[in-house]
Amino acid sequence: MGIRASRPRHPRLTGLPSNTVVNTAGPFLKWAGGKSQLLTTFSDFLPESFDNYFEPFVGGAAVFFYLRRNRPLFRATLADLNQELVNCYQTIRDDVEELILSLKEHKNEAEYFYQLRAKDPLKMSEVERASRLIFMNKTCFNGLYRVNSKGKFNVPFGSYKNPRTCDEANLRACSKVLQDANIRYQPFEAILKQAKKGDFIYFDPPYQPLSSTAKFTSYTKNSFSSEDQERLAETFSRLDKRGCRLMLSNSDCQFIRDLYKDFRIETVQAMRAINCQAVGRGRVNEVVVMNY
Ligand SMILES: C[S@@+](CC[C@H](N)C(=O)[O-])C[C@H]1O[C@@H](n2cnc3c(N)ncnc32)[C@H](O)[C@@H]1O
Repeated sequence: MGIRASRPRHPRLTGLPSNTVVNTAGPFLKWAGGKSQLLTTFSDFLPESFDNYFEPFVGGAAVFFYLRRNRPLFRATLADLNQELVNCYQTIRDDVEELILSLKEHKNEAEYFYQLRAKDPLKMSEVERASRLIFMNKTCFNGLYRVNSKGKFNVPFGSYKNPRTCDEANLRACSKVLQDANIRYQPFEAILKQAKKGDFIYFDPPYQPLSSTAKFTSYTKNSFSSEDQERLAETFSRLDKRGCRLMLSNSDCQFIRDLYKDFRIETVQAMRAINCQAVGRGRVNEVVVMNY
């Protein structure tokens, strides 16, 4: 797959970052659908403790970073189907100092941005790819990640005055809390082979669009279809029968409510501004599904 294989670096609990040390790590990317604004609401829903945590649609990892700050030690498996994103987490875990050096070399100029955007990340080193993703996320218009059908990043330059392209302190803090994380480039179904009874899994898939013009599912070159939502609901049911603790976010629509009708469904409100159509702007309802 042209990317480092995921590898649990320390398979035992010993050596995991201690929650007694103050840890301030938080998302280092702006990611569509990020959950930072919902963490206070989520704190009532998240289990108090668990040994193993899985986040199969990790995106900006707001929930993982929150749990690292607020829960006792746990082993984490973070996964996503966006190869650049997965490489970024692996690089922050394994090579954060090289990454910081590389981030300091970028120039916040349109011509430079478009040259870098045109480059093929598969021909770059892992550090260069991670550095490219962070830099472009901070300097592109609206700070989002979107690719076209060929998988090429296609967001224009944002012309921001002083974008924070290298937050050294946060990158080092993230590296610390990622040291023991198993970071994988894999589709969500792979979790069926990995999770066992008692494990906690948070699913934050691309949301089911509320209308055909309101969709933002371009995190990867293959967008997330209704059939994918159905396969996810089947995966959820199978993991429920196995005895895993499960929590899932999605948009509040009848299709999703029907898929999870056998489970507890809470409604939460989020500010969403990713769509250019009015329907995706402002305060919108989202659902949180739980099997506990
Ligand atoms: C809504 S975002 C996650 C947001 C994240 N929880 C946060 O706080 O920023 C959904 C993620 O799912 C990933 N994704 C899309 N299709 C996938 C699939 N089939 N399997 C695994 N991940 C997928 C996307 O690359 C994207 O990062």
